[in-house]
Amino acid sequence: MASFTLIATAAMGLESIVAREVKALGYEDVIVENSRVIFKGDENAIARCNLWLRTADRVKLLVGEFQATTFDDLFEQTKALPWHEFIAEDGAFPVSGKSVKSTLYSVPDCQAIVKKSIAEKLKQKHGVASWLAEDGALHKVEVAILKDKVTLTLDTSGVGLHKRGYRLGQGDAPLKETLAAALVQLTNWHPDRPFYDLFCGSGTIPIEAALIGQNIAPGFNRAFSFEEWNFISQKTIETALEEAEDQANYDQVLDIHGMDIDHRMINISKENATEAGLSDLIQWKQMQATDFHPEQEGGYIVSNPPYGERLGDKEQVEQIYREFGQVMQHHPTWNVYVLTANEQFEKIYGKKASKKRKLFNGFIKADYYQYFGRRPNK
Ligand SMILES: C[S@@+](CC[C@H](N)C(=O)[O-])C[C@H]1O[C@@H](n2cnc3c(N)ncnc32)[C@H](O)[C@@H]1O
Repeated sequence: MASFTLIATAAMGLESIVAREVKALGYEDVIVENSRVIFKGDENAIARCNLWLRTADRVKLLVGEFQATTFDDLFEQTKALPWHEFIAEDGAFPVSGKSVKSTLYSVPDCQAIVKKSIAEKLKQKHGVASWLAEDGALHKVEVAILKDKVTLTLDTSGVGLHKRGYRLGQGDAPLKETLAAALVQLTNWHPDRPFYDLFCGSGTIPIEAALIGQNIAPGFNRAFSFEEWNFISQKTIETALEEAEDQANYDQVLDIHGMDIDHRMINISKENATEAGLSDLIQWKQMQATDFHPEQEGGYIVSNPPYGERLGDKEQVEQIYREFGQVMQHHPTWNVYVLTANEQFEKIYGKKASKKRKLFNGFIKADYYQYFGRRPNK
């Protein structure tokens, strides 16, 4: 089976978590760069990584890399690549682009040249004299130029991997599913421990925790571009889906809860969980976070509370943080993980975090405050 260079793209700050996931799937020689993780894999890897990677944005296939400072260079070197091995005669191949610190800075021109060059190659190799119909499978091409180095990729995912297919509704500030999965993976929660999100919004964190808890492949209920591609066999796709079915541990009992002060968000969470096939696995409740008084020991709270960035919200949010901190003082065995952009969080919550990690929620710089609980008495 042919081996490819694959690129799992990642949000800033999540690269090492994506790399860990790639390695856990059995792929070695993983290179971690800004916003991407590079590794080698065959067509099975394309299918498995799309199905299983919880924290990556997309899986791209590297078609070629070269230096170019003129449009002629770009055209000829693009044309020299084996596009016909990936794109069938009727394949659609829209080209997007970006250029940073490069001689070829006009992105529309670069896109047009790459498009023309690939079209010529395909016509030549597939023996098409006239126009390419482009009414077949979608192959999104990206031309990315950084300091005159051109990277040409095909997007094997299609729609971004955060779109698991379960989110029917959302609130004002939903977390991306990929970031929610990362927040869970950054804890040392084990599926047999209680898990709570006290500010659950549309339920993304509890839903991702349940998928992790039962080892359900996050991409199981959606489609990917590569599934339509000629060079990926049906057998590969079936084998990957069978593996996902085998690996799922539907017998794992879970104790996962999502709460929010807004009953509309609880309804949305319920609908999303049902769509994800998890309706019986997560308990939802409309509740004020500061009314939380757990009876168990050693549970986990993973939450993305409001940040209080809107004018007038600041004081109210600080009040919630303060009271939340006071409540948790009475539950020293609990592990608390909070993602917020409020830089005063530790001060207001009243305790210094055991660990802090910088993450980005979209373009908002946030910190992930991690409080490890005391070991419960046996
Ligand atoms: C940033 S959003 C959470 C988004 C969520 N992670 C998602 O993916 O949809 C914060 C949520 O906290 C809720 N909230 C605000 N104050 C609260 C309080 N005192 N107790 C519980 N929930 C509260 C809001 O209704 C909102 O849904």
